[in-house]
Amino acid sequence: MVRYRIRQRERGREPVVKVTLESGDEENDEWVIRRETLRSRQKRERQHRLRHLIDPRQFDRDFLDEMCELTTDIRTLAKTGEGLLSLQTLLAHKRAMLYFTQPSTRTFLSFNNACHVLGIRTSEIRESSTSSEVKGESIEDSIRTFSSYVDVIIMRTIEKGLAQHASEMLDATPRPLPVINAGSGKDQHPTQALLDIYTLERSFDKTGGIDGKVIGMMGDLARGRTVRSLCYLMKNYRNVELVFIAPHAFEMEPDIKQHLTEHEIPFFETTKLDAVLGDLDAIYVTRIQSEHDVNGESALIDLSQFSIGPEHLGSIKSDGVIMHPLPRGPELDPAVDRDPRAKYWRQERNGMWMRAAVLTKVFEAETTFYERCR
Ligand code: CP
Repeated sequence: MVRYRIRQRERGREPVVKVTLESGDEENDEWVIRRETLRSRQKRERQHRLRHLIDPRQFDRDFLDEMCELTTDIRTLAKTGEGLLSLQTLLAHKRAMLYFTQPSTRTFLSFNNACHVLGIRTSEIRESSTSSEVKGESIEDSIRTFSSYVDVIIMRTIEKGLAQHASEMLDATPRPLPVINAGSGKDQHPTQALLDIYTLERSFDKTGGIDGKVIGMMGDLARGRTVRSLCYLMKNYRNVELVFIAPHAFEMEPDIKQHLTEHEIPFFETTKLDAVLGDLDAIYVTRIQSEHDVNGESALIDLSQFSIGPEHLGSIKSDGVIMHPLPRGPELDPAVDRDPRAKYWRQERNGMWMRAAVLTKVFEAETTFYERCR
């Protein structure tokens, strides 16, 4: 049995616990003590229901905090073989449809594996050309057909607004299943925003969380749905400042800037990374989304001005955070991966756990989950 010493102090709502394992194994320390805390946690009424997950504007701070806590608790239970087996029966009576007609690696795999972690069986369509859409079936009839076989539809589409449309359409049928937006065109990527918030909160765990931080977003801000969704969530955090670093052709769109202004979130726009890098607590790098080019406009950009490489590491704060939604292009040098401030591989892994929390929430399985933690 692992033995450990515990030092505990209060910070905010949750006790913060410092553990030193006799083995000195720092990585395991956190999860061992979290497991103990999870067993003894007071039963807490869960306030928030999640039916469809379509747009980040539907989330408030309490919901985000609850989702971050649930994500960590699911990860904690999954750290033991016994816990993982228990999780695999949590939603074994449910089935999911992964309708991913726009390319995806990590969102598809993380949702697929989140389903498997919870015991949910999955079906998938990854190209319209292999479905009856190619025979002329309307998207409405296709979605209604999915609802005949599964309990949740997870959608990644090139079209903006299709998940919203699917949710409204299904709500008017006898099988009003939940719909989850796994990325809609250039517009929104709400589950990415949730895992980004989780990664930021964990990265800033020792410095007060996201509140009060200066967050830079760099690259193709006009066509990057991840940064658009993340901007929408910033209204939930106190005294956050945003710095947008983008070429003029790919500046943040006016609708997002208007939203930030309405919520009194200060933002600053620049084309000069070097002028602001040292002021940032986090830099969220994005790739140029050339798949959306109309006239080869990406090729006109001097990408070296909007890239992070080893030469920038000296300018980034010692406790700064480097993130990227991935996949990356030349804007993020793999030589940065070894730096402890590079959080993007962790960010990617966090996606599976956050998506497991989303599915647990959608199926209202939290009470059962917390009962299994005892
Ligand atoms: N971040 C992200 O959405 O990656 P994929 O396109 O690989 O799913």
